[in-house]
Amino acid sequence: MKQLESPTDWLEARKIKTRGREEQRPANIFAGGSSCDSAEIQGVVVSRLSVYPKGSESAPRTFAVIEPEESSVEGLEAEGEATWFWKRSSKDQQLLDFEWQQSSESRWNFYFKLPKDAMCFGLGERLSGFNLRGRVHTLFNHSDNMHVPTLDPLYKSIPFLLIRHQGRYQGIFLDSPARQRWSLDVELEEQASIELLSRRGFTVYLFETSSLPDLLAAYTALTGRSKLPPNWSLGHQQSRWSYPDESTVLAVAAEFRTRNIPCDAIVLDIDFMDEYRVFTSSPERFPNFKEMIAKLQDQNFRVVTIVDPGVKKDAKYFVYRDGKKHDYFCKKADGKTFYGKVWPGQSVFPDFLREDVRLWWAALHGFLVENNVSGVWNDMNEPCLFGQGCPLPLDAIELPKEHHQLFMQQSPEGDVGHFEVRNLYGLEMSRATWEGLTALRPDERPFVLSRAGYAGIQRYAAVWLGDNMSWWEHLAVSVPMLLNVGLSGVPFCGVDVGGFGDDCSPELLARWYALAMFYPFFRNHCSKAGAEQEPWSFNQRVEDAIRHFVETRYRLLPYIRCLFWEHIRTGAPLMRPIIWDYPEDQFAAEIDDQFLFGRDILVTPIVKRGQTERSVYLPNGLWYPFDGGEPLEGGRLHKVGFELDEVPAFVRDGSIVPFVDLIQSTDYYELAPITFKVWGDHAMGLYLDDDGISFEYEEDGYNEWLLRYDNGQFSSNLANFGYIAPEREYYFQHGLRKERVHLARE
Ligand code: GLC
Repeated sequence: MKQLESPTDWLEARKIKTRGREEQRPANIFAGGSSCDSAEIQGVVVSRLSVYPKGSESAPRTFAVIEPEESSVEGLEAEGEATWFWKRSSKDQQLLDFEWQQSSESRWNFYFKLPKDAMCFGLGERLSGFNLRGRVHTLFNHSDNMHVPTLDPLYKSIPFLLIRHQGRYQGIFLDSPARQRWSLDVELEEQASIELLSRRGFTVYLFETSSLPDLLAAYTALTGRSKLPPNWSLGHQQSRWSYPDESTVLAVAAEFRTRNIPCDAIVLDIDFMDEYRVFTSSPERFPNFKEMIAKLQDQNFRVVTIVDPGVKKDAKYFVYRDGKKHDYFCKKADGKTFYGKVWPGQSVFPDFLREDVRLWWAALHGFLVENNVSGVWNDMNEPCLFGQGCPLPLDAIELPKEHHQLFMQQSPEGDVGHFEVRNLYGLEMSRATWEGLTALRPDERPFVLSRAGYAGIQRYAAVWLGDNMSWWEHLAVSVPMLLNVGLSGVPFCGVDVGGFGDDCSPELLARWYALAMFYPFFRNHCSKAGAEQEPWSFNQRVEDAIRHFVETRYRLLPYIRCLFWEHIRTGAPLMRPIIWDYPEDQFAAEIDDQFLFGRDILVTPIVKRGQTERSVYLPNGLWYPFDGGEPLEGGRLHKVGFELDEVPAFVRDGSIVPFVDLIQSTDYYELAPITFKVWGDHAMGLYLDDDGISFEYEEDGYNEWLLRYDNGQFSSNLANFGYIAPEREYYFQHGLRKERVHLARE
């Protein structure tokens, strides 16, 4: 990686185009300091360059990279003060011809080569096909509910790009929460560039490896991994903006139980609050909030409630009063409190970059915990303000002065304008939520859902991709979007099932569930204006199809739990592109309407209206239709039909997948029998178990078995035994043969 050296370099340098206009490379005015070192992280050589402008002494801290004491993964070790977690490596990296410079007080430019056949993935939430090449991607957290194909930017910014070229992978992580624009060879000249608007400098990490899993392992060792989610959060969640009152909520819940459609959580949107005051409930519409939750718990439901960052300006409201008293809200550059309009009207915004503010916010969750709310949904945390477009116009080429940056925030280095750190707002809010729930309920792993995020958000929250529409196009694009979110280090993700805006149709809802049963985060959610889309909202045929998909999701819970184990050990996402396991398969690299759900299941959804069959690409090997039938030979395309109620997926020959007997809520998970289904004559698999709720698994409180099937014999080898589980029955099944088995105890 090199700094451009003299103005003559730029004169000779080729022209680049960003934002549709031609631009000569500007002159480099850099006169600050920098440091460069490298490390081997999880076997991958990573170079780090920290750059700070004149007058600063170090690059800013961004909260993306985990502290060594928080890390349990190998390769992050403190080593002296200057290189606090880096093992120096002898290799001097010169990747991608990566060049950088400062071209004005607030503008930094980066240039790198993108060879002709290189493909680009990652960058967080992009409304795009799987390959991000050929487009400008803006990273500046922003809320927009009209997700048309050109929309940019969106709610989450994760500046980690993965580049695939000739079987090798390189990664660039530009750690700065200020606005970045990545132009990925828009001009078809094999050149990419990034523009960063910041006065504070940055740290950039370059990774080089030969495999995609290794790259993810290294990136997530640096920015952290998710914890195991509580079991219930992996179940089916039902949401609506908004169920207006207690009786509606109870009626919806009852409907799930009478109709035998498994469900674990009911989600309460903004109308459960008292005039949108966070940490309150409406005395008129939810007068018996705690009792209502208790009734839901009796039927094995959990409750998730929304918490937005905007605090209503109301001198009588305790959160506003207390926050004002302690000076916790963001102020403008002139020192006056910043007010912005969101759901409650004029509101103030906590400065989540401050530890004292996060602690205060964390403690406010006492209200929810006392009422037995189980999970918290952080919305609008870009932060979104009404009546504003993107607060920094896309064509801005300089960072505005502080008084034009909405408000100020307190970073570890001191006061900064909001735009310098905007992409951290949602991350730090979710961190406060996660830390609050962990402190208030130390025996339970929390469930937090966030709309905004930055690198590292996976440590604190699951994410969904905001306000999609009940459009077939949004069903289809959810696959590449979620694949890129997963490759940006965030495994626990999904989109609103059925679509948020507009009216869902019966066929679309059935097809959406057929795909969504494989989303790691599985929630039906719909806006105020849209038609009802609970599973029973249409006809019997659609309801029956949805029931089959939700039931299948529940049966797969032990497998899904194992995939999360894999994530915490290796950083692997749950939804993976086919090239994850078939790296040489160039044909597969181009596919973005199929994906692997873990190693053993290939999902091939129908994403077009009226379609009942599609062309399916199976990678090498034999693949069994999920709902039964003869296996198909891989390495080629097949025309395959999927009826409205058929699971559009295949299982890999040679796999053993654990299934649990049908349950209506994960409350029944612990005791339900498990069946290991074997596909093929020689098969291997893994099965892990823990209590599904506490952090004990981090202290050896889990069991792990390696499973084998060979010569008609099923066997299990114990790899860990630290959890005394309630007795349950185990079976193995191969074709029609099903037998009881006992797992090895030593
Ligand atoms: C935002 C969220 C949406 C929610 C609505 C009301 O649009 O993205 O999910 O229902 O706000 O809270």
